[in-house]
Amino acid sequence: MTDQTPKRPLAPTRRAVVEGCALAGAAAGMAGLGFRAVPAAAAPAAPAIPAAPGDPAPQTMPVRLTVNGAPRDLVLDTRTTLLDALREHLALTGTKKGCDHGQCGACTVLVEGRRINACLTLAAMHEGDAITTIEGLADGDALHPMQAAFIAHDGFQCGYCTPGQICSAVGMLGEAKAGWPSHVTEDVAAAPALSDDEIRERMSGNLCRCSAYPNIVAAIRDTAGSNL
Ligand code: FES
Ligand code: FES
Repeated sequence: MTDQTPKRPLAPTRRAVVEGCALAGAAAGMAGLGFRAVPAAAAPAAPAIPAAPGDPAPQTMPVRLTVNGAPRDLVLDTRTTLLDALREHLALTGTKKGCDHGQCGACTVLVEGRRINACLTLAAMHEGDAITTIEGLADGDALHPMQAAFIAHDGFQCGYCTPGQICSAVGMLGEAKAGWPSHVTEDVAAAPALSDDEIRERMSGNLCRCSAYPNIVAAIRDTAGSNL
């Protein structure tokens, strides 16, 4: 008897899709997995929400951000968060929206090198600031060491929290390098040593619903050891 089952095109594996998310910004990986960033001009416009009777007209203002090294000029409703500006206006969807309330860390990006929850800050407050998202960490096809470490240590499962974890970890290493203590630092006058307890405490603003924490800590410990 012959097999009559129709042949279906091979779907990407779960791991391939997740790695594509962790690597967002590395062009080759993204192209193969459908994660290529859409140019802002090609991004579909967000549907307009009809105003309720009596609603004041939205106030807009021009905002210039430097995103991943490139100047981006936007005209935004003054209430637009940095997260929505990145995702909805610049089509940089590597940065994730989890809670939209500053509680999960999925939206973490770097502003002038410091980590920040992009859902808790207005884009208009960052006129002229340099923003780095997960798409801007890799150097062309060369992964940022933190991205490579997350893959080497399998520091993710579904991958939704991963861009925020990676951006947060990069910012956190900068804070430790600058000598900032944390709540678990025993000697605040000494240079902080990044023990696992220190890493857990310093990354406590980034939640992972898949509980990939042990592997996330291992990835960060390795990257810290490489003297990034
Ligand atoms: S989406 Fe910003 S902290 Fe959760
Ligand atoms: S890998 Fe799934 S939420 Fe962190």
